[in-house]
Amino acid sequence: MTVTHDGATRTNNKKLLDWVDEVAKLCEPDRIYWCDGSQEEYDRLCGELVDAGVFTRLNPQKRPNSYLARSHPSDVARVENRTFICSAREEDAGPTNNWMDPKKMRAILDEKFKGCMHGRTMYIIPFSMGPLGSDIAHIGFEITDSAYVVVNQRIMTRMGQAVLDVLGDDGEFVPCVHSVGAPLEADEKDVTWPCAPNIDDKYITHYPETREIWSYGSGYGGNALLGKKCLALRIASVMARDDGWLAEHMLILGIESPEGKKTYVSAAFPSACGKTNLAMLIPPESIKQEGWKVTTIGDDIAWIKPKDDGKFYAINPEYGFFGVAPGTNYESNPNAMESLKENCIFTNCALTDDGDIWWEGMTKEPPAHAIDWKGNDWNPGVGTPSAHPNSRFTAPASQCPSIDPDWENPAGVPISAFIFGGRVSHNFPLVYQGYNWEHGVYMAATMGSEATAAAIGQEAMRRDPMAMLPFIGYNMAEYWKHWLRIGRSHVATPPRIFRVNWFRKDEKGKFIWPGFGENMRALQWVVERCTTGAEAIESPMGWVPPYEALDWTGLDFDKKLYYAIMNIDREVARKEANDQEELFTRFGDHLPREMELEREMLLQRLHHSPQVWDLSATA
Ligand code: OXD
Ligand code: MN
Repeated sequence: MTVTHDGATRTNNKKLLDWVDEVAKLCEPDRIYWCDGSQEEYDRLCGELVDAGVFTRLNPQKRPNSYLARSHPSDVARVENRTFICSAREEDAGPTNNWMDPKKMRAILDEKFKGCMHGRTMYIIPFSMGPLGSDIAHIGFEITDSAYVVVNQRIMTRMGQAVLDVLGDDGEFVPCVHSVGAPLEADEKDVTWPCAPNIDDKYITHYPETREIWSYGSGYGGNALLGKKCLALRIASVMARDDGWLAEHMLILGIESPEGKKTYVSAAFPSACGKTNLAMLIPPESIKQEGWKVTTIGDDIAWIKPKDDGKFYAINPEYGFFGVAPGTNYESNPNAMESLKENCIFTNCALTDDGDIWWEGMTKEPPAHAIDWKGNDWNPGVGTPSAHPNSRFTAPASQCPSIDPDWENPAGVPISAFIFGGRVSHNFPLVYQGYNWEHGVYMAATMGSEATAAAIGQEAMRRDPMAMLPFIGYNMAEYWKHWLRIGRSHVATPPRIFRVNWFRKDEKGKFIWPGFGENMRALQWVVERCTTGAEAIESPMGWVPPYEALDWTGLDFDKKLYYAIMNIDREVARKEANDQEELFTRFGDHLPREMELEREMLLQRLHHSPQVWDLSATA
């Protein structure tokens, strides 16, 4: 078969050209198209997607240059049980990952990919994760048979000919192959969202040793936009281990003090803990008036490299936001709403009668009528959500009003603090600081969110170390060792490590802390701990701020309430520390000694340390 190579992109990189030929031979597409990343190309492909019924063009008066896509109802989220780490040895993937022998997986995938692009175009997407030419950035190539992926990748990454120019004739890249897994045989009519309908036919596969990604059968989000979770976290975590840096599931934000000093912090939260809201936080009015400002560098992923000056420099490898839509509104996140005004792609949201989008929580009043994410008539009485709970927006980061002037700085921004947070209704203070790097790594490794086991009415902690459980590309315990090593080799200036918890509840089950913009008060203390050295008290869990150390201007939150979100019940804390043993024993000999030592020291402090933090007495 002769296939034509279309598109303006030019390269002499032999490794790249050979790989493209090899994949084309396997997948047997009808056409090969090299993406140039231009606006003209984006508009043309979006137009083709509209003609094919995949996209609905939104009302240009309401939402200029924006589109709505509806996925197949079976293809709506990342598929963790079909996500594989295929390292040569099972123990290198570790007990928290799905492992398969790479030889066995290659045999399965060779079958799946054979002829999988019949009747389709094979698009070649050159992309850079991170500002072009940054020494922290990396180049990837995604081969895909989905135009939906191409246009999303243009928002999510720096994409096109400029990437090939940086790559040069012998530059390195991460090869990523994606197919929706739905070949079209002669005269077969396409569907609007092709994918492999059976979950067991989907494979999101990573080969850490050869740093390759092969994804088959899903067109959705993290399964298909391979720069994000697959490259920037799973494969990059392996690259970072080998080359002495960190690839983290973290937002990055800048906090400017009234004196004009900018401090950057990076924060990791498991899914559904308001990460995008924190990344785009707007301080309360009274704090703004004092002169504090917050800026956004990224909302999901941080690549962080210690440099010769001993500081840790971070970039956001992404170029856009792929955020969860429901719950986003002008109260919870005005900056996100402003970012979504134009040039966006919405997936699985509802379509309003005036040609705009809607989702649960976007406005207080739902529309009287809409078309839901499955394409059916919807009204508030139907009893099902109009938008899928995991419906998404894809938006250019440059449209975010709080975007930091340095967000594209190829050198990155210096990180002063790492913040880790879960969702815990009791006993974990609003904010506290680790005693040192090792203690901080232990705090991050043991973090988690509560999952209510409804059947038994108990709350179990679902551990999500560093919020990396679904995203680590190798053995989690070796990843902890990597963190310990990184801190140790940069002893003078590693970022300080904190934990936060916005989610403590009272006896009636109501959140005590107002959250959202008010989280600024905890961030101010974090910044001051890293700079001027704000006041802190020693507690068994770490350094905690006394009431007076937080800025309370403009918020009526008395000492009694404060103690309700800061109090540590030693018996509960002891039980939590005991429970961590179960996590640690899973890793056998891979567990770094420091983790068990820190756990024991915590238990000792809980047992012996004086009650310096006797909150009940003051309450
Ligand atoms: C995401 C996630 O989609 O963490 O960012 O699940
Ligand atoms: Mn994420």
